[in-house]
Amino acid sequence: MKLWAGRFQKETNTLVNDFNSSIGFDARLYKQDIAGSIAHAAMLGKQGIIEEHEAEKIIEGLKAILADIEDDKVEFSLDNEDIHMNIEALLTQRIGDAGKRLHTGRSRNDQVAVDTRLYVKEEIPVIIKQVLDLEQVLIKKAKANLDTVMPGYTHLQRAQPTTFAHYMMAYANMFKRDVTRLEDCLERLDECPLGAGALAASTYPLDRFATAQALGFQKPTDNSMDSVSDRDYAIELLSCLSILMMHLSRFSEEIVLWCSWEFKYVDLDDAYSTGSSIMPQKKNPDVAELVRGKTGRVYGSLVTLLTVMKSLPLAYNKDMQEDKEALFDAIDTVELCLPVFGAMLDTLTVRPKNMAKAASGGFINATDCADYLTKKGLPFREAYMIVGRLVNMCIKTGDTLDTLALKDFRAISSLFDEDVYEALALKTCVNERKVYGGPSKESVEKQIALIEEFVNSRA
Ligand code: ARG
Repeated sequence: MKLWAGRFQKETNTLVNDFNSSIGFDARLYKQDIAGSIAHAAMLGKQGIIEEHEAEKIIEGLKAILADIEDDKVEFSLDNEDIHMNIEALLTQRIGDAGKRLHTGRSRNDQVAVDTRLYVKEEIPVIIKQVLDLEQVLIKKAKANLDTVMPGYTHLQRAQPTTFAHYMMAYANMFKRDVTRLEDCLERLDECPLGAGALAASTYPLDRFATAQALGFQKPTDNSMDSVSDRDYAIELLSCLSILMMHLSRFSEEIVLWCSWEFKYVDLDDAYSTGSSIMPQKKNPDVAELVRGKTGRVYGSLVTLLTVMKSLPLAYNKDMQEDKEALFDAIDTVELCLPVFGAMLDTLTVRPKNMAKAASGGFINATDCADYLTKKGLPFREAYMIVGRLVNMCIKTGDTLDTLALKDFRAISSLFDEDVYEALALKTCVNERKVYGGPSKESVEKQIALIEEFVNSRA
């Protein structure tokens, strides 16, 4: 019999019963649901809303249910719709009438809101820790490759020289922002909706500050209607996770490119790549591809929830039950991707020779050549034009700026001298870029120190 059978003259249709039920996916909130109920029961007892001994009985009963769930001794039922009603029904089955008092001054609307917030509060630190572990891998790779010159690209055309270390620190900065975004999200969601009831709080003297504190929230939420209507925290987390996955996906794309024979900048460890069922020569970057692919699921979850919420009148609507699968799937996906991506990166081998070769072939020092003339007094725009002509000439003759004879340089500008070769050497081009944030060894060392400081401050 349903909890609400009093109002109804018919049994729920079985299709509706299955359709309406969320226990299949919200069972994972059992711990949070029980924690919320314990805090609520203790407060009811303390406020004299129920008898203290009843509150104690409820709390003991809930603790026993928790232990049994963890020992896999509990089977949830579809008839009890969701985790909230399943646990309440179990409690009443076990402790009798006292169990029927637990829901005093409470609704599933504030209950589900508090459960989900508690869940998210536990998972965000897990994800942050995983991102920080990835930062450690980036630091390690950067330190080992401060002198590994490679081409930097714009439009995927060779543009200016950089180093693999500088590249790693670019990603390290993105992931640093991901961490601070997650921290902001955590800070903002740290308010307890319990006590908001269905929407209009309660006529009982509920102490919302006490339950907020017992559950480890900074404070109760300020408006009961907003408390049960709000899914901003989930949307915000999904946005943070989408941005994080976007970063992982870009990085994955680079790894896929870099381990192709066209680039061969890196080799994946055999343990982190896969073969083909037909082509014996293949070694595929499946991990990077899957991370890139799974990014779509996380974006999908964000769009799901934005769309679910976009025209819901206040306060609770059943549509909101759709939040959980989207949220859980995104959290699971991110938690699955981060460690395997980090391990793949950690074990890949860098091929400095191939990077240097690519960096030497594509006029990557053309800007430096123009800068050389500018330092000798020519306005940059004129220098730029001259080097453009030089490049054009080299393309025709099959030369590069490093191999061009001095007389050919001088035929175009008499400002060129023997020192041009030193100025155009790749090492010079990188290490002269000492500007804050740039690719020179000392600049990158500073960047590494900043990321290390950031990671240590969160340890
Ligand atoms: N299973 C529901 C959900 O996830 C719990 C809240 C139900 N509230 C209600 N008024 N039907 O949203």
